[in-house]
Amino acid sequence: PTIYRKDYRVPPFIVESISLIFQLQDDHTDVFATTRFRKNPDAGEEGDQLFLNGEDLELLWIRCNSDELAANMYQVNEKGLSLTAPGDSFTLEIATRIRPDANTLLEGLYRSNGNYCTQCEAEGFRKITYYIDRPDILAPFTTRIEGNKSNCPVMLSNGNKVDEGELEDGRHYAVWHDPFPKPSYLFALVAGDLRYIEDFFTTKSGRNICLRIYVEERNITKCDHAMLSLKKAMRWDEEVYGLEYDLDIFMIVAVDDFNMGAMENKGLNVFNSKYVLALPETATDNDYLGIEGVVAHEYFHNWTGNRVTCRDWFQLSLKEGLTVFRDQEFSADMNSRPVQRIDDVRILRTGQFREDSGPMAHPVRPDSYVEINNFYTSTVYNKGAEVIRMMHTLLGAEGFRKGMDLYFARHDGQAVTCDDFVASMADANDYDLDQFTRWYSQSGTPVIEVSEHFDSEKEEYSLNLKQSCPPTPGQPEKKPFHLPVAIGLLDQDGKDIRITDDDTLVLELKEAEETFVFYGIEQKPVVSFLRNFSAPVRVKPFQSQEELAFLMAHDSDLYNRCEAAFQLAEQVIFAALEALQAGGQPVLDDQYLTAVSANISGGQNDKALLGQALQLPSETYLAGQMTVIDPDNLHAARNFVKRELAGRLIDKFTALYLENDEAEYQLTPEAMGKRSLKNIALDYLMAIDAPPQEIIDRCLAQYETAKNMTDVVSALQIIANSELDVREEILGDFYELWRNDPLVMDKWLIIQATSKRQDTLDEVKRLMSHPVFSMKNPNKVRSLVGAFCAMNHVRFHDHKGLGYAFLADRIIELNTINPQIGARMVSPFTTWKKYDGERQHMMRDQLERIVNTENLSGDIFEIVKKSL
Ligand code: ARG
Ligand code: ZN
Repeated sequence: PTIYRKDYRVPPFIVESISLIFQLQDDHTDVFATTRFRKNPDAGEEGDQLFLNGEDLELLWIRCNSDELAANMYQVNEKGLSLTAPGDSFTLEIATRIRPDANTLLEGLYRSNGNYCTQCEAEGFRKITYYIDRPDILAPFTTRIEGNKSNCPVMLSNGNKVDEGELEDGRHYAVWHDPFPKPSYLFALVAGDLRYIEDFFTTKSGRNICLRIYVEERNITKCDHAMLSLKKAMRWDEEVYGLEYDLDIFMIVAVDDFNMGAMENKGLNVFNSKYVLALPETATDNDYLGIEGVVAHEYFHNWTGNRVTCRDWFQLSLKEGLTVFRDQEFSADMNSRPVQRIDDVRILRTGQFREDSGPMAHPVRPDSYVEINNFYTSTVYNKGAEVIRMMHTLLGAEGFRKGMDLYFARHDGQAVTCDDFVASMADANDYDLDQFTRWYSQSGTPVIEVSEHFDSEKEEYSLNLKQSCPPTPGQPEKKPFHLPVAIGLLDQDGKDIRITDDDTLVLELKEAEETFVFYGIEQKPVVSFLRNFSAPVRVKPFQSQEELAFLMAHDSDLYNRCEAAFQLAEQVIFAALEALQAGGQPVLDDQYLTAVSANISGGQNDKALLGQALQLPSETYLAGQMTVIDPDNLHAARNFVKRELAGRLIDKFTALYLENDEAEYQLTPEAMGKRSLKNIALDYLMAIDAPPQEIIDRCLAQYETAKNMTDVVSALQIIANSELDVREEILGDFYELWRNDPLVMDKWLIIQATSKRQDTLDEVKRLMSHPVFSMKNPNKVRSLVGAFCAMNHVRFHDHKGLGYAFLADRIIELNTINPQIGARMVSPFTTWKKYDGERQHMMRDQLERIVNTENLSGDIFEIVKKSL
């Protein structure tokens, strides 16, 4: 059944308080919920029928105002329980039995390595007890947990611990109370044999907060970076937004089995261990950055998500878009700002633009869904963050802060909508954002066409901009967006011409077509267009190779310098592709070679930024730019450019490698920048046709001697992609070293699954039955199946179609184990219409096979059905 946003009604009943008792037993858990309900005064005469959501529950008994209810006084079906309310205010006591051990969905209460944990967003609480499981029902929670002292020495829930003590038979209890009214999706319980590290944070108003990170004993040495990140995030939110933490304790728990990245449960965040655990020898620089970003993201939700939450799930971006924007800005402040921006834009352009161009395209605030879990998307998260960022650009940092202050002043403790957020921004600044709200309702990626005119007589430069947006499912026509277009004009020396108080000017494009004229411009300038990627749009290429090379060398906007490098690379790869498709030999443009060479010797002081600029766009991204995708020639074309660049700039890349090879390991942004540059240089050098022995030796030596995982994995990945004799031996050696570390084993699987060698699919199939692999662990599924199908474009799309059959088999398998993860895996199939006839046919057949599977879950059904 499809749920529509327009059908929203205020709830007929509200909850005054809920108190839960969990009795954890060996093979089941009994849950006793005592809930005080009251008629909602805002609901009008909605009748006296109360519906409580509940799924996969065994109902033991139910009492109303202390009297047991006879079976004819309520109805239960597979979606929930309904009864006639006995008055305007009443108490229900409900006992349910659940089976955490059998829960492979990882939603509701389940066990990970023997430890109990919960995941309730979006609709998992209904798998624990009968309740009004919707985000606009806010209540204070009290939670008592009873368990065995030996296997559950630690028992946690939201809020503060208010009581604990001994019970009979080696059992004990703990009682937690969370005074902040919250929706059920923020409920959490954790119990098990866990250790913690502890630290403290003093808030700006002088309150002392206890911080704890709980992990299994074997991981206790790996939590320091997460703790440091947490303290940085707490300080940053005070400094930038004036937001202080509100409870006395803040806890993070890391578990190995988790569907997503992490979850912001009030006072008790639960994390995928991937975003907590790190030591230099086990985690890469990207892992370190990921941990810092996700720890901050979940912490920031305490205000943007928990204190002010969503009225309904269509408003998901209210908390997610805003919180992603906040974590991006935090990471930019902690590390290199332009590099952070480039990474964020890359994620948007590869994932979100792809989504926008396919059958699942939806607005940032969707109008309907079948399964809400399918809408935790790049559109809601990443495009949602861009929408917030555009408001920040239009209103300025100060104006944006005023809007945030008003938002909290108006809505603290409430469940609100995206419109409420925009209204706060508009009202606080007396700024008209009416047209801007189209970003929330219209799906699809807008396209901007640029044409320039220069009149040397009149000394006038004008920019003509046209915007349009391609049709998307259910939205054939679009109205113009309100777009901030940041630009700079460069003179012949590459200096910014002062066109405003600042070097960058933000044009506001509101019409389908507008012309902006600049006076007193003596020579034809080079425009630096859409600086810092000021709007989530595609810009039709309009600049020559010379201009792009010029921007790459001179632009004061560091983001756009890199952008120019990407555009150049894209042009060159597509030129090679055309040559290959015409059956000819591609040649590498000299001008391009000179530009790259100049870039390397340009004395760029941000090493990470140079590394970014040197990286060629991925095949998956490039595929998104093509009308008919040709995987084999695309792969060959990109490889050709990489190999040629490497071969002809061998001395430069060798020098880059040596200059950036530091003896000492540090975790500063500068050191990370050097490491990434060094490893990019190595990757180029090893791409040379039959690389010189000394380069091979260097790569092998790096694998053997490196003490940090960034360097080890970079070398290993190159080796796994090669035909070197030692390949098997080295992969085996790495396995023996790290077989007991699940997160390192994930890397081992990804490296093999993304190898471009011919036999990769066979290798992936063999690894499916390897002891480290499990279909029940989402990280493993993502690392082997996900990596092969979504990140190994050329091998997944092999013309024989074996990759397609492999993926369909896995999705059908996941349908019974974990449909939420199964639905995620469908993604590589959704763009099937963009491939040649033969491949279309084969992918379509597999989609048909999936859709005809018996007992297909709503999660998988929704995406497959929309794709067909
Ligand atoms: N709110 C979490 C976050 O972004 C994500 C949880 C999503 N869970 C899910 N089952 N869809 O931080
Ligand atoms: Zn989030």
